Amino acid sequence: MARILTGVQASGRPHLGNILGAIHPAVQLSQNPENESFLFIADLHSMTSIKDSATLIDNTKAVASSWLAFGFDAEKNYFYRQSRLAGYHTELMWYLSCLTPYPMLANAHSFKDKSDKLSDVNAGLFTYPVLQAADIILYQANFVPVGKDQKQHLEMSKDMAEVFNRTYGEVFTLPEPMIDENSMVIPGIDGNKMSKSYHNFIDVFLPENELYKVVKKIVTDATPLEEPKDPDTCIVYKLFALVADEASVSTMRNNFLNGGYGYGHAKKELFEVLWKKYEKERELFNFYMSNNEALEAKLKMGEARAELIARETITEVRNKLGFIS
Ligand code: ADP
Ligand code: TRP
Repeated sequence: MARILTGVQASGRPHLGNILGAIHPAVQLSQNPENESFLFIADLHSMTSIKDSATLIDNTKAVASSWLAFGFDAEKNYFYRQSRLAGYHTELMWYLSCLTPYPMLANAHSFKDKSDKLSDVNAGLFTYPVLQAADIILYQANFVPVGKDQKQHLEMSKDMAEVFNRTYGEVFTLPEPMIDENSMVIPGIDGNKMSKSYHNFIDVFLPENELYKVVKKIVTDATPLEEPKDPDTCIVYKLFALVADEASVSTMRNNFLNGGYGYGHAKKELFEVLWKKYEKERELFNFYMSNNEALEAKLKMGEARAELIARETITEVRNKLGFIS
């Protein structure tokens, strides 16, 4: 039995890139009976950039609702908000902070990057990797699926667990990252990587006419309708190939190559697939977004179960530190 744990920031409604690149693979992993999955919403981490509580609450709801909509089984696994177990996470974070050399944090790529770009360079950004390490080792995770950008944070987490074990005695499992080097990059409607920060994303939970409007905005070239087109350079085709069935993809490919088929036709087909494919998920998402009690019930149950594990680890840690009398 392996413990797989990952955190997602409370950054709002996930888009098609998040769904195909992160939610789908993680839900699949969690369905393997050999694994025990821990999935939490890193709302404390999101505070490094979001200073408005209403936005943070809304984003947390949207992230939680979409994971449930895409089939994450909150009863079999562990599903929780980091803030509801903040006592455990931040207590461990403090202990780890006292074992972490200042230059290790000062030289972290992500901190250097953010401190160059952002006007709000707060201490939370600086200690971000320590909280992340606490998130992971508190639950004795074996594997942590993350994007390539998180590689250094994972190395630091393992380092902190090792230093603690060496200094006070064995408590922590050493976590290993799971990074899919070949993971696909889903293009956005302008052809760049789909991202919230580039405002080029497709939100599959949108109502019908709004979803169609976004699909119609996908950038294409000016090849006239009657001329043959290259499917491999067309964003509409690339996105269609990711979500449609094989037969429809090959039909669209031939349509492109044969000519007499416009980008408007392709966009309509893409919209129709997106609308139908995610019908069930859209309904579930809307259900959780408008039924706060149902969502709270799932999260509270997850939080109660996660707390048992967090408490067990913290008790062991306090014992090693001599803080239990
Ligand atoms: P955004 O760039 O929209 O802010 P995040 O950085 O919050 O997205 O991404 C969360 C996770 O979703 C990432 O770790 C990555 O696995 C996945 N992801 C985001 N954008 C894409 C994309 N365009 N293609 C594939 N996966 C993506
Ligand atoms: N830093 C991660 C991100 O921005 C989110 C995160 C917080 C996380 N704690 C974690 C990821 C623990 C994995 C494990 O994507």
